Amino acid sequence: MNKKIFSGVQPTGNLHLGNYLGAIKNFVELNKDENNNCVFCVVDLHAITVKQDPKELRDNIRETVATFVACGINPEKSIIFNQSAVPAHSEAAWILSCVARMGWLNRMTQFKEKAGKDKEKASIGLYSYPVLMAADILLYDATHVPVGEDQKQHLELCRDIAQKFNNDYSVEDFLKVPDPLIQKEFSRIMSLKDGTKKMSKSELSDLSRINLTDSEDLIVNKIKKAKTDPLPLPSDSKELETRPEAKNLLGIYSSLNNFTLDQTINEFSGKNFSEFKEKLSQVLVEKINPVANEIKKLNKENEYLDKILLDGQKKANEYASNKLKKIHEIVGFL
Ligand code: TYM
Repeated sequence: MNKKIFSGVQPTGNLHLGNYLGAIKNFVELNKDENNNCVFCVVDLHAITVKQDPKELRDNIRETVATFVACGINPEKSIIFNQSAVPAHSEAAWILSCVARMGWLNRMTQFKEKAGKDKEKASIGLYSYPVLMAADILLYDATHVPVGEDQKQHLELCRDIAQKFNNDYSVEDFLKVPDPLIQKEFSRIMSLKDGTKKMSKSELSDLSRINLTDSEDLIVNKIKKAKTDPLPLPSDSKELETRPEAKNLLGIYSSLNNFTLDQTINEFSGKNFSEFKEKLSQVLVEKINPVANEIKKLNKENEYLDKILLDGQKKANEYASNKLKKIHEIVGFL
């Protein structure tokens, strides 16, 4: 079956190893298969749900495209565009927000985490963010959505919205109910400073993450400083349930090498962290350095990056505005 792949990444700077291993690495693999139609969106409308500096946002949109290409996404064989350039996204989000229920959105854990204690001060956009995400996906009839584990709940909401729209308007199968593509292992990369917290762009300490633009020295230093525990590395994955930092670092090593966790455990069983960290730094430098260099090179090629976005926008706009037109007819707009 031909898969229609859609996914998005926020242009909020500091794309990191979590974004790469949880999502972008998978985009690259899916993009290699000629049977897949891939759409990758730089979700700038999502980015402004928290305040952004306009100049930085513009730079970050281009840098996200540069990162896609540097990681191996082929712009000739996929559609890459920024969300705000295709107005159908905002419009469809409004219509779908009249289908989605408050009760559904109230359950979203990411909103609770991001809004923190003072929910009253969070933007309405941050609250309705998953509805816009549903619009993104449903406008393209996506069959599969590759994401990290943290987006699973939003994907479930998207499925609920699609089903309710189809039921409410008696249009069976009109909005395609997409399947999430979440890797079985390593779909949640954790902070280097705290193995119970997700690696994130918004974490204050830069030592908590490996950015895709980090230099060799920085990577080595961050891994040296990464939190561990006093025990040698385990011989059994069960032991990792109570050792989150060890689990995370072994997971990162496995994912970068395309090993299973058990393979990595066998390789390092009984060894100490310093030996393991050396090997981990080595493979990180090997994989991240070329990406970092390519991002830096592409960052100087605005014309090329803008052309990718413009080409993508034309194709995306055509598809999405067609789908939106059908939505208008179904809803009863003249
Ligand atoms: P965003 O920009 O926060 O993250 C982009 C992708 O990276 C994944 N990710 C992680 N995976 C594993 N470990 C981590 N520590 C980690 N941090 C981030 C995310 O799961 C995501 O796949 N709402 C989305 C963007 C979006 C979208 C969409 C995605 C907008 N519309 C439609 C799919 C389909 C987001 O904020 O991702």
